[in-house]
Amino acid sequence: YTAHSINSADLQTMPTVLLLNGPNLNLLGTREPEIYGSMNLSGIEEQVSAVLHEHKIECETFQSNSEGELIDWLHQHKNADFLLLNPGALTHTSIGLRDAVLGIEIPFLEIHLSNVHQREEFRHHSFFSDIAVGSLVGLGVKGYLLAAQFAVDFIEQKGTSAGTR
Ligand code: DQA
Repeated sequence: YTAHSINSADLQTMPTVLLLNGPNLNLLGTREPEIYGSMNLSGIEEQVSAVLHEHKIECETFQSNSEGELIDWLHQHKNADFLLLNPGALTHTSIGLRDAVLGIEIPFLEIHLSNVHQREEFRHHSFFSDIAVGSLVGLGVKGYLLAAQFAVDFIEQKGTSAGTR
């Protein structure tokens, strides 16, 4: 083994966490900042990646405004170990995205910047909450960081015993 081949072997065995954001989350920072805060999406992606990289976990990020692109991206990343998902408005509408998450069988956390339960009634139902490991709502950017920390613990404890929550 050369030093280089050891490095690439290491890379291949590094766990991967996906960070997926749905429609309109590309507007973060300027979109309704009183609800969603002032940090933009790249800021969130950088902070989440930093938490994961500290623990030698790869982070793959993606955002799309199109349901089909989100579903295709999940299919292409089905070998990942954990998913951090903010489906945006698709939370309340998309059986297709729900089925994609179920289909790839990756454990995931549902994240919402805002507290959807304090908002309009149509935001109270989620097609993801009942199949998620858990949900973080109303914690702003901190929700993503707490979720990343949870993913680290989940991955590091994987292969030990169930019921660690
Ligand atoms: C959101 C909440 C959804 O109801 C809304 O459609 C969004 C963002 C949140 O992060 O608070 O786009 O998922």
